[in-house]
Amino acid sequence: MDDNERKSMSAEDQSAPSEQSIVAYDRGAAIEQSDGFSNPGLPPHRPRQTDLHPAKERRAERQVVAWFLLSMLGSVLAIVAYIAVPIEPGNMGSVRANNLFLGLAIALALLGVGIGGMHWARQLMSSHEVVEERHLSRGSEKSRARAVEIFELGDQESGFSRRTLIRNTLIGAVAIMPLPAIVLFRDLAPAADAVDSIAHTMWTEGERLALDPTGTPIRADDVTIGSAFHVIPESLKDLGHDEGYLDQKALAAVLLMRLPVDRLKEAPGREGWSYDGIVAYSKICTHVGCPVALYEQQTHHLLCPCHQSTFDVTEHAKVVFGPAKRPLPQLPITVDAEGYLIAQRDFTEPIGPSFWERLNHIDPDHVPVSAAETETRA
Ligand code: FES
Repeated sequence: MDDNERKSMSAEDQSAPSEQSIVAYDRGAAIEQSDGFSNPGLPPHRPRQTDLHPAKERRAERQVVAWFLLSMLGSVLAIVAYIAVPIEPGNMGSVRANNLFLGLAIALALLGVGIGGMHWARQLMSSHEVVEERHLSRGSEKSRARAVEIFELGDQESGFSRRTLIRNTLIGAVAIMPLPAIVLFRDLAPAADAVDSIAHTMWTEGERLALDPTGTPIRADDVTIGSAFHVIPESLKDLGHDEGYLDQKALAAVLLMRLPVDRLKEAPGREGWSYDGIVAYSKICTHVGCPVALYEQQTHHLLCPCHQSTFDVTEHAKVVFGPAKRPLPQLPITVDAEGYLIAQRDFTEPIGPSFWERLNHIDPDHVPVSAAETETRA
């Protein structure tokens, strides 16, 4: 600020002196008057139709009850739909129909409770505006007692205790809402022996190893050192999608690799399970079942991308890193008269993650490769 401005400002100050402007000048800073507006407060309370007319209040009450009854109906219909429109194995149409009717019924159950609750709150519970001052999160004894008071007031104003029909229909709707889940959870496992259905795969003696997904059989000569193949049983391609193609593929998927013979450290008793450095291991991770899809040629490690479990192919796919607790199950292989790679038999143990009935399904011919596995079996 130069001298002229200072003089001019001084002149203005003299012509219209005020305490604030003088203070501003002395401090060398401009002070702007606040242009905020005062709190207009809450608008006047407008009673609702249901506050004014008892007939409309009763009508709203009936509507709330109707929504809760609809919710009950939805829950019951969900069970009926599950039973009346069953899923037939291999029939995608039945899956779609089951899901459609089940979904509609459950949606009705959820919407009924949701809309009924909203309607109750908007039309029948107290509509008085309430202002709550901010305070420390831990209230004093006095404020806690006040909270109880407010809770009881809320109970009185909402009519939760008084409007017993609404309250009971709401409780009924919420109470039976989980029932469809019971029948749905039943579907988590087949009615037949669930463990048996996953304890065996399509691999049988003489089944050719084929490329995934073409199903082309693999000759031992085609497997070069350092290469890795994603493999399925040759006969899988004859299976239709309605005949459990995907389920069988998920069980039987195998990784095939060829290592220099001198790098293979085969476990005692498993010497005959490989062919000229070619080994086959289940592709399903023994942690929680992701496909083990990454092969490091240099280290001969297989990596599971899900949680980084790492298996050493040179040593019967033992776990060298990560959360998996068991080696990948090995598929015993050999070649047929035409030089194609074939399975000697099925896996000797259930593939994939461990589960408590798994030990009951281990083949007597199984050759354990780790002390931990032996201890577990014992
Ligand atoms: S599923 Fe493979 S590491 Fe978890």
